[in-house]
Amino acid sequence: MGIPLRSGNVRKPNEKMRLIVTTFAGVIFGFFLGVSFPTLSLTKMNLPSSLFPSIDLTYIEDKYSGLSTQAIFNALNSLKANKDVSVPPDKHNETKIWVPTNPRGAERLPPGIIASESDFYLRRLWGQPSEDLTIKQKYLVTFTVGYNQKATIDAAVKKFSENFTIMLFHYDGQTTEWDEFEWSKRAIHVSARKQTKWWYAKRFLHPDIVAPYEYIFMWDEDLGVEHFDAEEYIKLVKKHGLEISQPGLEPNSGLTWAMTRKRDDTEVHKEAEERPGWCTDPHLPPCAAFVEIMATVFSRDAWRCVWYMIQNDLIHGWGLDFALRKCVDPPHEKIGVVDAQWIVHQGVPSLGNQGQAENGKAPWEGVRERCRREWNMFQDRMTNAEKAYYEAMGLHPNLTMKHWD
Ligand SMILES: *[C@@H]1O[C@H](CO)[C@@H](O)[C@H](O)[C@H]1NC(C)=O
Ligand SMILES: *[C@@H]1O[C@H](CO)[C@@H](O)[C@H](O)[C@H]1NC(C)=O
Ligand SMILES: *[C@@H]1O[C@H](CO)[C@@H](O)[C@H](O)[C@H]1NC(C)=O
Repeated sequence: MGIPLRSGNVRKPNEKMRLIVTTFAGVIFGFFLGVSFPTLSLTKMNLPSSLFPSIDLTYIEDKYSGLSTQAIFNALNSLKANKDVSVPPDKHNETKIWVPTNPRGAERLPPGIIASESDFYLRRLWGQPSEDLTIKQKYLVTFTVGYNQKATIDAAVKKFSENFTIMLFHYDGQTTEWDEFEWSKRAIHVSARKQTKWWYAKRFLHPDIVAPYEYIFMWDEDLGVEHFDAEEYIKLVKKHGLEISQPGLEPNSGLTWAMTRKRDDTEVHKEAEERPGWCTDPHLPPCAAFVEIMATVFSRDAWRCVWYMIQNDLIHGWGLDFALRKCVDPPHEKIGVVDAQWIVHQGVPSLGNQGQAENGKAPWEGVRERCRREWNMFQDRMTNAEKAYYEAMGLHPNLTMKHWD
């Protein structure tokens, strides 16, 4: 994990001196306290009935200064344990908490203390927590990157305003190198070698973690953004009610699907005409309800569904694009391509090249083979899961799979 963590223990010499003096004073104070009140026991102090004893923390800090925070923590815990012992036994049953509606595993906590969601906001080590954040970003953009693509990524990041939290997934182990860019210092860096976007997404973008972000951009590293502006993009996505979207692709960049090709005459389009026979239904992929996985943008609600569909072992995400529609309703209206803010897919092989040469096959061939295998596995799992569901419900719909399903 490459989240920068500055050591808090590097102190200047004069600070060190002050620390020693403070420690010394604390020890002396503690000694006299012990001598003056030899029978003072924490269990006999009149502790309030709140969860944490309202003991003056400076006492503990003085007593334990020079020790680790772990020691302070242990001390606090032992205080709590002592306090528990002091509760009359017949009161125990009345004070026990069990809230079935709490998150699973947290039933013993009073609901008021539960923080079930998180964020990527960077905080300070000092001051008032309430004053830490000058801006609470409403959007999140992630790039899966190798350092070789730094120029492209630098250009891309600059198209995202200060309203975006920037997150880089590093598949090549290079993280601090990015600090040459000013924005890198406010970015979240996650490093795990040779992993794919969907591997990172499944592990680091749990819906409860990214809950504050209204939109999540999950982008590859080889996208040209000259004609793209993220704030404008979001305006269009909101205007047209798109829950899952991508920018249109410049027509000359080696396209696979008609649906994702940029159009000149619209802001947004939600359907396309494919080659004859490719679409059994004009409202189904790849003619509608479909975007690719290279530059996908999810609304918070859509992502809360899609995350659950990502399989831990199917890391390339092939087939996911055809299944995204299962997360929104109606899919042919809520999935679309934004033409007015478009990008160029540069097709840099990058991670796709980092397989292993086997049986006389080039590294990229092995990766490609795995992609296709995963696509089949994903399709099978989805088909079986749906079948199992309908059977369990006593329903027998016609489950003959459509050509692209
Ligand atoms: C708590 O336990 C005591 C004795 O074990 C019992 O008399 C009392 O009724 C219990 N109170 C509740 C609320 O269950
Ligand atoms: C960031 O968001 C605020 C609030 O929605 C908006 O007023 C501002 O224009 C945004 N910044 C940019 C650069 O668009
Ligand atoms: C199921 O659908 C297929 C093609 O859509 C059709 O050929 C077949 O007759 C249907 N079967 C039933 C039992 O409805």
